[in-house]
Amino acid sequence: MQRPIFLYKADPVRGAEWASWFALKAPQLEFRQWPLEDGHQRVRYLAAWQPPTDLSIFPKLDLIFSVGAGIDQFDFSTLPPALPVLRMVEPGIIGGMVEYATLAVLSIHREWLAYRDQQRAGAWKALRVRPAGSRRIGVLGLGVLAQAVLAQLRTLSFPCAAWSASQHVIDGIDCYAGSDALPTFLGRTDILICLLPLTESTRAILDRRLFAALPRGAALINCGRGGHLVQADLLAALDCGQLSTAVLDVCEPEPLPAGDPLWHHPQVMLTPHIASMTQPETAVDVVLENIRRHLAGEALNGVVERNRGY
Ligand code: GLV
Repeated sequence: MQRPIFLYKADPVRGAEWASWFALKAPQLEFRQWPLEDGHQRVRYLAAWQPPTDLSIFPKLDLIFSVGAGIDQFDFSTLPPALPVLRMVEPGIIGGMVEYATLAVLSIHREWLAYRDQQRAGAWKALRVRPAGSRRIGVLGLGVLAQAVLAQLRTLSFPCAAWSASQHVIDGIDCYAGSDALPTFLGRTDILICLLPLTESTRAILDRRLFAALPRGAALINCGRGGHLVQADLLAALDCGQLSTAVLDVCEPEPLPAGDPLWHHPQVMLTPHIASMTQPETAVDVVLENIRRHLAGEALNGVVERNRGY
């Protein structure tokens, strides 16, 4: 009997790694990469950064996996309403985000950009070292990635708070919820990290009003999506000193166009959307566990709630 197909539609180089792990861990499934020339009737599972627009070519599709943590790049209007969509929550992507956020926080906290500039200018000049306990971190979002980042930053003694749409209770973290609580949360935040999903209600949330509610000289780290940020408002806030530094892993559009002022802004550190990446070895385990749960009729992990948008 022919095996069910697991179809992968994303970066083909990483797809080849997925293929090796599938061969080892799930020989009962046939792993194939997009584009598919035959076997459409046997496709039961699809992992994609962006699914194909016409899914009727796969009449037996059971599950769609996002290969990334975010799912704003999906066009849900093209997906059958009852088809479960699962976002990527796997140890590799979580660990990568913890590393990046910690690196960015410590770079700001320990004045890394200022020392780079001083070195270029041949200046040997000590800046006052502040204790971590005096630098307040605020995370926008409280999903799995945000919680892991906060847990790590707490171990470094930074006072940590988080803001999300709904109320959470997390040991050692001051949790704020809802738009009424946003100004209070911002007012106690020296380094703001955006780890929100991009939805209609979070698009352009990083704007002039939000920056004005932060203490003067605060810093921004955006690990969410470029669509969260109003770039002109960021440049204005940096230029007038309301913000001191921005670390941006995402922008809109990507890649950032040549000539954009962010490229050479002295207070901006840019990276090309690499804060975290799904790691094939650990991602395949998580995907296979969800397939097992689906076959056993058990609850799935990481199901996207389409009405919420994440
Ligand atoms: C990357 O941005 C992701 O969503 O995993």
